[in-house]
Amino acid sequence: MKKILVTGGSGFIGSHVVRLLVNKYPNYLIVNLDKLTYAGNPENLSDIEKNSNYRFVKMDITNEKAIFKLFEEYKFDGVIHLAAESHVDRSIANPNEFIFTNIVGTLNLLNAARSIWKEGSGHNVFYHISTDEVYGSLDEEGFFYEDTPYDPRSPYSASKASSDHIVRAYYHTFGLPIKLSNCSNNYGSHQFPEKLIPLVINNIKNQKPLPVYGKGENIRDWLWVEDHARAIDTIYHNGKIGETYNIGGHNEWTNIDLIHLLCNVMDHKLGNQTGHSKKLITFVKDRAGHDMRYAIDATKIKKDLGWQPSVTFEQGLEKTVDWYLENQQWLKNVTSGAYLKYYNEQYNY
Ligand code: NAD
Ligand code: TYD
Repeated sequence: MKKILVTGGSGFIGSHVVRLLVNKYPNYLIVNLDKLTYAGNPENLSDIEKNSNYRFVKMDITNEKAIFKLFEEYKFDGVIHLAAESHVDRSIANPNEFIFTNIVGTLNLLNAARSIWKEGSGHNVFYHISTDEVYGSLDEEGFFYEDTPYDPRSPYSASKASSDHIVRAYYHTFGLPIKLSNCSNNYGSHQFPEKLIPLVINNIKNQKPLPVYGKGENIRDWLWVEDHARAIDTIYHNGKIGETYNIGGHNEWTNIDLIHLLCNVMDHKLGNQTGHSKKLITFVKDRAGHDMRYAIDATKIKKDLGWQPSVTFEQGLEKTVDWYLENQQWLKNVTSGAYLKYYNEQYNY
């Protein structure tokens, strides 16, 4: 039985990756390691938690001793590393946690993998999941390619860039069998409602202001999370050792256009008159160092591995809105307590 460690499997993207692997590969043991921070929610995997090929371990990747012990115990064949602090605004408010988790945590996992793969069985993979934000900010023209120089500009993207460099260094220096991918903004079910799309859906549902940073002209390239999970499965199994793959949806939206679209979809779903939710739009102070535009060129993964998005943005967004409307209790559970304090501080409400 192949044993694969997924870190951060109780978070947004991680839970989709774990679900896909547990269901698709009954002959793999999928071990989900997660600290269960505010963003990690065991409820995200309640549908598969009783499967015999799934195991959960509550652990902090910055705990070097515990990580080494776990690797010794399981002798994992592969690692898919998603655990991270992931929200740019939180990294501006409190950068330190990002450095510890995203850099030191990744280093611990690399060292632990290196210690058990000394002999190298030939099938081991350390797959590091990263973001397009490491490439910096684009003007109106151009795309991020796999060889675009790194130019991170927030504590979050700088910590991810740093971890990417260390992962590649372990390949070149120690021959650790690594793979990497850098993906654009994800959207879909189970995303913590501090990120733009679930925040807007949740606030429209509760008739609260929709905070737009600056003029709302910044551009993001949106990909449905289940398509990202499929890409991760594809790269883990078929990608080349030592290579990087960019993943994206060729789906660029200014924030304000995206919020208008969400208002229209929500008005339709909630039976409101068109234009009702747009009244909630509130322009607020811009994010410090706000990257202008992200856009991925995903030609390599399409050409080399045959991956491409399976849904259009309209289809993915409709599924997403339906999920949040049908899972109001999930939203209530994750927005109680500590999140409310963060939200009030972030937006001064
Ligand atoms: P998320 O914040 O929803 O989930 C992160 C998970 O990591 C949570 O379950 C959390 O409990 C866990 N975690 C955090 N610190 C930990 C620690 N010290 N030890 C163990 N577990 C810890 O994040 P996400 O959006 O699912 O992102 C997952 C990965 O994908 C991250 O590495 C992120 O950089 C990357 N990524 C995200 C996006 C996006 O649009 N969300 C896009 C590209 C890449
Ligand atoms: P976010 O979902 O935080 O992802 P990222 O910063 O990693 O791209 O934000 C997406 C875009 O939406 C980004 O340009 C910032 C903007 N934004 C707002 O305008 N208002 C908000 O309340 C949030 C959370 C984000």
